[in-house]
Amino acid sequence: MLIELEELQRQAESELKKSKTEEELLAIKTKYLGRKGILTKLLRGLGDIEPEERPQVGNRCNEIKATLTAAIENALKARTSLKKKEVLLRDRIDVTLPGRRIRFGREHPVASVCKDICDIFAALGFSAVQGPEIELDYYNFEALNIPKDHPARDMQDTFYVEDNIVLRTHTSPVQIRVMEKQRPPIRILSPGRVYRPDSDISHTPMFHQIEGLLVDKGVTFGDLKGVLTLFLKQMFGGDTALRFRPSFFPFTEPSAEVDIKCVMCRGAGCRVCSQSGWLEILGSGMVDPEVFKNVNYDPEEFSGFAFGLGLERIAMLKYGISDIRLFFENDWRFLEQF
Ligand code: PHE
Repeated sequence: MLIELEELQRQAESELKKSKTEEELLAIKTKYLGRKGILTKLLRGLGDIEPEERPQVGNRCNEIKATLTAAIENALKARTSLKKKEVLLRDRIDVTLPGRRIRFGREHPVASVCKDICDIFAALGFSAVQGPEIELDYYNFEALNIPKDHPARDMQDTFYVEDNIVLRTHTSPVQIRVMEKQRPPIRILSPGRVYRPDSDISHTPMFHQIEGLLVDKGVTFGDLKGVLTLFLKQMFGGDTALRFRPSFFPFTEPSAEVDIKCVMCRGAGCRVCSQSGWLEILGSGMVDPEVFKNVNYDPEEFSGFAFGLGLERIAMLKYGISDIRLFFENDWRFLEQF
C-alpha cells in the first residue's frame, strides 16, 4: 500500500510538471484532491485497511495531500502572475511615440484691431467704457436726436425686443449714458457689439463698432480732424491719404465721413473700393446741440466731437479679407493666419 502511495505521488508530481495552463492545473487538482479525487477516496477508505497499517498509510496520505495542495497552489499563483505580466507587456504604452499636438488659440483679428485702436486713443487720454447691448429706444434713438417716426430711423434697420427696447444698432447710445453720469471734460472710447437685420458678404446681423467721444470747452472741428488724422495714420501707415467728406447724422452737426485711399489698389480703382479709389472708414461730427440739451449740458459752454467705426471693416481692409462672414465662422484654418 505504501509503495502504491509513493507511485501515486510521483505520478501527480510529473503531471503537475507537464501542465501549462490554468485549466490543466485545475484538472489535476480535481483528479487527486476533488470530492471524488483519488486521494480523497483513499482517505475515506482508510477504515477498510488493516488496523496495523492504518496509521502509517493515513499519515502518508495526509502528507501527500498537503504537499500536492501546496504544489498546485504555487503553480496556480505562478500562472496568474505570469498572466499579469503578459497583460502588462501587451498593454504597454510606447512613450517614444510623438504626442498629439495641442493647438493654441489665437487672438481674433477683430479683437486685435480693437486693441490697436484702444492703444492709439489711450495715448491721447481716451479711456474705454462699456454700454448695454439691449438698449432702450430712448438711448439708441431719441436722445441722439432721432425721434420716433423720423425718416432718419431708416438709416438703421432695427431688431426690436419690445416696443421701447431694441438691440442697439450702433455704439452711439454709450455717448448719452456717459454724458448723463459725467460732466466734461470727457474722452471716452466704447467698443462693443451692435445689431442690424442684414446679411450678405459685407453685412452680418451682429458686428462690432467702436465709438469715440470728446467733450470740453472750446473743442473745434479742427480738433476732430487732427485727432482722426493722427489715428488713421497710425492705424494704416503715415503715408495714408485721407479725405473728409460732408455727411449727415442726426446727432452731429456738421457731420463728416472719413475716407482713406484704397489700401488694395492705392487709389487706382478696384473691386474693393468700387473703382472709386477711396474707402469709407468712419462716421464723425461735432456733437449736435440738441444732444447736449438731452443730457443737460449747455451747448454755449461746451462743444465736442464724436466718431464711430466698424471693426470688421477695418480688419477686412487691414488684412485683405473679402468676406465678413469669415469672422464669425470660427474656422481654425482662417483664425490661425493672424
Ligand atoms: N453711429 C454712427 C453709425 O453707426 C456712426 C457715428 C458715430 C457717426 C458718431 C457720427 C458720430 O453709422
